[in-house]
Amino acid sequence: MGSSPGCWFSFTVTLCFALHCWMHVGPSAGYSLGNCTIRGSLRESDRPKVLCYKLNYHSVPRGIPHTTKVLDICCNKISVIKSDDLKGLKHLKILNVTKNLISHVEAGAFKDLVVLEELNLARNRLHTIPENFFQGLVQLSTLRLDFNYNISLHSSAFDLLVHLKVLNLTAIHLQHIKEVAHVFRLPSLEKLYVGSNLISSFQSKDVLNVSVKSSSVSNVSFRLQLLDLTMNPLHTFRITEDIFPHLEILDLSYAGNESMVWDVQNHTFLRGVKWLNLSGIHMSKEEVESAIQSVSSSVENLKLYDMKQVDVTMLMNYSCQLPNLAVLRLRKNNLTSLHGHMFQNCQQIRKLDFVENRLHNISETAFRPLQNLINLLLGHNKLTKVPEAIRYLHILDFLDLSFNNIGELTCSDFKNMTHLTSLHLYCNHISVLKACVFTDLPNLKKLLLRANKILTISDAFKSGLKNLQLLELGSNKLSYIRTKDFESLSSLNYLDLIDNQISKIGFHAFKGLGKLSTLLLSSNKITKSAMNRNVFSGINHLKVLEIVSNYISYDNTKEIPDPPFSYLNSLKYLKIASQAHKGLRNIPSNLLQGLSSLEAVHAGNLNIDFLHEDTFKYTPKLLFLDISKNLFTSLNPKVFQKIPRLNKLVLTKGPLHSLDFLIHANLSRVKYLQASRNQLGVINETVIQSLPSLTYLNLKDNTFTCDCSNAWFISWALKNNMTQVLDANGFECTYPSQLRGAKLIDLDTESCTVDQGFLCFIANTILVLFTMCGAFFYHFLRWQVVYAYYLFLAFLYDNKHRKTQKAQSFQYDAFVSYNAQDELWVMQELLPQLEDEQGWKLCLHHRDFQPGRPIMDNIVDGIYGSRKTICLISRYYLESEWCSREIQLASFRLFDEKKDVLVLVFLEDIPPRQLSPYHRMRQLVKKQTYLAWPKPGQDTRVFWCKLKQALEMKDDPYEDHGAMPLL
Ligand SMILES: *[C@@H]1O[C@H](CO)[C@@H](O)[C@H](O)[C@H]1NC(C)=O
Ligand SMILES: *[C@@H]1O[C@H](CO)[C@@H](O)[C@H](O)[C@H]1NC(C)=O
Ligand SMILES: *[C@@H]1O[C@H](CO)[C@@H](O)[C@H](O)[C@H]1NC(C)=O
Ligand SMILES: *[C@@H]1O[C@H](CO)[C@@H](O)[C@H](O)[C@H]1NC(C)=O
Repeated sequence: MGSSPGCWFSFTVTLCFALHCWMHVGPSAGYSLGNCTIRGSLRESDRPKVLCYKLNYHSVPRGIPHTTKVLDICCNKISVIKSDDLKGLKHLKILNVTKNLISHVEAGAFKDLVVLEELNLARNRLHTIPENFFQGLVQLSTLRLDFNYNISLHSSAFDLLVHLKVLNLTAIHLQHIKEVAHVFRLPSLEKLYVGSNLISSFQSKDVLNVSVKSSSVSNVSFRLQLLDLTMNPLHTFRITEDIFPHLEILDLSYAGNESMVWDVQNHTFLRGVKWLNLSGIHMSKEEVESAIQSVSSSVENLKLYDMKQVDVTMLMNYSCQLPNLAVLRLRKNNLTSLHGHMFQNCQQIRKLDFVENRLHNISETAFRPLQNLINLLLGHNKLTKVPEAIRYLHILDFLDLSFNNIGELTCSDFKNMTHLTSLHLYCNHISVLKACVFTDLPNLKKLLLRANKILTISDAFKSGLKNLQLLELGSNKLSYIRTKDFESLSSLNYLDLIDNQISKIGFHAFKGLGKLSTLLLSSNKITKSAMNRNVFSGINHLKVLEIVSNYISYDNTKEIPDPPFSYLNSLKYLKIASQAHKGLRNIPSNLLQGLSSLEAVHAGNLNIDFLHEDTFKYTPKLLFLDISKNLFTSLNPKVFQKIPRLNKLVLTKGPLHSLDFLIHANLSRVKYLQASRNQLGVINETVIQSLPSLTYLNLKDNTFTCDCSNAWFISWALKNNMTQVLDANGFECTYPSQLRGAKLIDLDTESCTVDQGFLCFIANTILVLFTMCGAFFYHFLRWQVVYAYYLFLAFLYDNKHRKTQKAQSFQYDAFVSYNAQDELWVMQELLPQLEDEQGWKLCLHHRDFQPGRPIMDNIVDGIYGSRKTICLISRYYLESEWCSREIQLASFRLFDEKKDVLVLVFLEDIPPRQLSPYHRMRQLVKKQTYLAWPKPGQDTRVFWCKLKQALEMKDDPYEDHGAMPLL
């Protein structure tokens, strides 16, 4: 097919070789499961995860490896699980089938899943669970059936699930708790979710009666620890039997109705409940109090969000009397102010949560009674300053003031808060940090100041904060980091300066941060000149550095005198990928100098097209390299020879034409290779063989060539059992054009292999004959042979061409044949003059050739699609193989079609003596007229005029058009 006749011989040989290897691969289990990702290998001892979520499957994918441990087929359009879909998966522990359209599961579908622990069937369309539905799932411990509206459950369907601990029956349209009474007798059940149903009455006798009646086990053991009844329209909650001896968590949020009755007469029935959620409950104040009363001896954690009908301050007072209450959460209650009397009884409370109220007024003594408070959440309120009331909280450890309207911090705000370890001030309006603000916080470990309006750090971190470990200053308005700005933060470990306006960083700016391990400088305005090694001095324990999206760029890859990271010899992770700006454009060959511990580099989207072979010379420990979204069409194998430990390589989204550079890259440890969305046409066997550790290969969305040159690859992709080739079934052909859109796997590889023995024989015979004759002719008839060879080639092309394109009109006025060395002249002189001035349409190989096609086909189409062929002759041109083919083809057209299509332009003076090795050229120059580019300084107007005439000239050389010497 698309392979050029000139190469057919070598192709045959390749074919024989491919066949040879085929036999070694042999038939085996496939390892390319559609678009599914397989994590882990298929070796018998491994237990891979198979991830097939969100892939539009209409049925369970076929060929799931029998060793699979986790299967995720969530979010597809599967409607039935057939009885043999999951056959033989006897190692499967987790099965996720959520968010499909499953309405039917055939009998026995789960019967082989004898070690399955987790089954997620949530958000499907199941309507019945028959008696034997769970047959085989003897080890199941978690089962989700939530959001299968209107399901009916057979009363003994769950009997088999003796190890079931967690059962989720949320939103399945249950009308009555009796429908699920049988699950209460499951011997291991610990957590039961029956929220968002239509249960109007929860009574212990309903649960008990049914289970005693229909169970053969008379001694029922209720182990339930969690009961979730949220959002049920309960009118009765009545416990008259001791069925919840172990219940710890009771969630009744948004349950109830206006006249709900709470009836738990004996307070020992809920003796274990530690965690009660009554948020948004629809109950009268009296009933809420009696609910709280029934857990009074044990409850520690009370959630009272969004208590619409009930006066929450009274409830607060009531709750504070519970002897063990430690955590009281009162979010979304529209509170506007807090006063001391509200907390009169709350001495034992340790955590108070007022998030999402409208607090703007907190009286100075409000918190005085809270002598044991260690955790205070005041986020998402309307405070305009730090409440003075916090000064009474002597042992406060955690203070959240985020999302308020605080504009200023004063020196007394955090006076003597010696126990405070976390202070959240993000999303306020703070613009100035005074030197005194944080001096009295000796134990502070986390200070979050993200998303304020801070303009400068001034002296805020010059003293105090000796124990600070984490400082977030992202999304502020800092523009200048001065020397010693962070001087006293000797324990700091993590510093976030993302999304500021930083353009200047003083020398030794981070000096003193001897423990700093993460420094985030992304999305600023740092330029090349601000990236100086002295900026990063004194932080030699740094492990993570991110400087994404700044204004750093370099003009070339030459060594820079002052490599910025020289002092960072502990750095393991560097991210310089860019999103918004121009990118680095070039990576200086010694940019990474000093990074001797570096293990991972993200260098995507940098607008670079070249990597100097020394780029990674300084980072021999590199394991991960991401250079995706750059402009590489190829890479120098030597780049990789310096990083022999590399095991993950990401090359996504670029114009790569071939992976052949990997052959000499010595990447024997690479396990993971991503090269999706490039312009790869053919994947060579040798490329794959040069990656002996490869287990994952992603080549999606490339421009594959569908001919025998990929036959080996496609067979390997489908059959090998060590490397998973992501979605090999989905690879599409780009070339040849008549196969565009077809699937690469549909390629008839048979035709590549039929009679290989015969082809090998022929090939060998020809090889022998060629060698013999070749030697003979070479010796006696050298030039004639070379000429005949090219004539033959041209003949073949011409024949093929006449069949396909004879009748077509010309696409271009002229095909320009030139050597890459002369490209500058073409771009600067020829193109502006001929295309812009004179209006001709030119065909240039670097611009107009279709990627992914064999080059010879592109040349033929270029020459035959153009009226004329302009050959730009220079010494380089004469030496180039492709150029000589171009001239041969064009001259054959002259010979064959009787059309004079050649225009010869000499870019430099080449004496006839020097032409003599190029026999064909000498012949041409003798017969044809030619043009010469004037010497520097001479007028070029005459030249352009003559070139114009030559292009306008009719084709027929035998018609007398007054052929004149143009020179
Ligand atoms: C894989 O994904 C592509 C695009 O997302 C889709 O066109 C193709 O059909 C999928 N292949 C399979 C086997 O599902
Ligand atoms: C599927 O379920 C598993 C375990 O239940 C979970 O870890 C995984 O994230 C789920 N997958 C999706 C896509 O939700
Ligand atoms: C139970 O189902 C609900 C509703 O889908 C979900 O929000 C919740 O996370 C589930 N809980 C568990 C433990 O599966
Ligand atoms: C409460 O229930 C416990 C256990 O069932 C029982 O021993 C006790 O007598 C009951 N108390 C009252 C007041 O009914």
